[in-house]
Amino acid sequence: QGAPVRITLQTLQNCRNGSSFNMTTSCCPAPDVDLNVPVVDFVPKRHGVCRVRKALQCLSGEELRIYTEKLTTAYEIMRNLPASDPRSLMQQGRIHCAYCTGSFTHDGLSAAAYFTIDIHFNWLFLPWHRTFVYFHERILRKLLNDESFSLHFWNFDNGADATNSTQVETEGCFKPGHFVPRIYNNNSTSTFDSNRSNRTLVPNIVADLSIPGSEFFPVIPVRSADEAVPRNREAMQIGMERGTIPRDFFGVTFKYGDVRNLNTTGAGSLEFQPHSSMHLWIGGGVMLPATAAFDPIFYMFHANFDRLWHIWMETGDNRKLQPTDPDWLDAEFLFWDENQVLRRVKLRDTLSIGDLGYSYEKVNDAFWMEDA
Ligand code: C2O
Repeated sequence: QGAPVRITLQTLQNCRNGSSFNMTTSCCPAPDVDLNVPVVDFVPKRHGVCRVRKALQCLSGEELRIYTEKLTTAYEIMRNLPASDPRSLMQQGRIHCAYCTGSFTHDGLSAAAYFTIDIHFNWLFLPWHRTFVYFHERILRKLLNDESFSLHFWNFDNGADATNSTQVETEGCFKPGHFVPRIYNNNSTSTFDSNRSNRTLVPNIVADLSIPGSEFFPVIPVRSADEAVPRNREAMQIGMERGTIPRDFFGVTFKYGDVRNLNTTGAGSLEFQPHSSMHLWIGGGVMLPATAAFDPIFYMFHANFDRLWHIWMETGDNRKLQPTDPDWLDAEFLFWDENQVLRRVKLRDTLSIGDLGYSYEKVNDAFWMEDA
């Protein structure tokens, strides 16, 4: 028994630029961002609008053209906001970075003892990233001044071949989603980031979900689709396993006063392999947690992890394995919203995507649901 992790204004004010993976980072919001601001509680609108996040590979024709234009415009604006604006891509990337570089300390405890907070490799991973993407999406919507805009997802777990007859019964989109969505791959637009590995630029190379989660700098072989598809299916099956205790899917506990866990084995099953693999596969040594969120691709690929969490919760009696520990439910985070207001979010308010006002387009999940 302990107490929940709480990110407060004081946590932000005491942020100290840290270092990780041999990179020194400068990810604290201040001095660019004003931290002498009020904090306002976030209350999800339980019966608000419901926007659909769609599978990117299934957009086509006019819809794809319009969406491409909106998305690239939104990121162009976001990239051009001044660093003092917490909605700028620079600050969005930094806030994520600060959590992976030991920059935040539990309030009242000494940084010298490395009482630093991380939202990776523990049970904060899923809810923190859901909420981060949620506010990022609200910001994009506001920058576009388009109430209908939603962030779509990279359906990388979907290696389904539509010609395989077992897929045809499922409703929804059948196209395989395991290639980098083209919309993020045009190097003349704002959704592109030149720090990605060259492997992401080769058309029709299947993303690799099965890079060993415990290795930080693995050599990543280029695999043929024939080789990659069954490996990915297996990695997804393991990542989405029910498990027997909350820890299996959600990750180890992380409470007030805990020392930041740098061991990837603290991660839940989905984070451990598919998530780590995707970062390593996208990165040219750069898509490591510290630098990842400076790249727009981060948000739609995390939208898919969010979707996978949602699907897992809706499967069988998995819901029973959601942690009930108040030290998880009462954890608190701070996020800037679309109006640059700093919001205090309780983890318990992030557990239903319906309450947050969005849903996911149904796509073919049979690829990894069925037995290989
Ligand atoms: Cu905070 Cu995909 O990482």
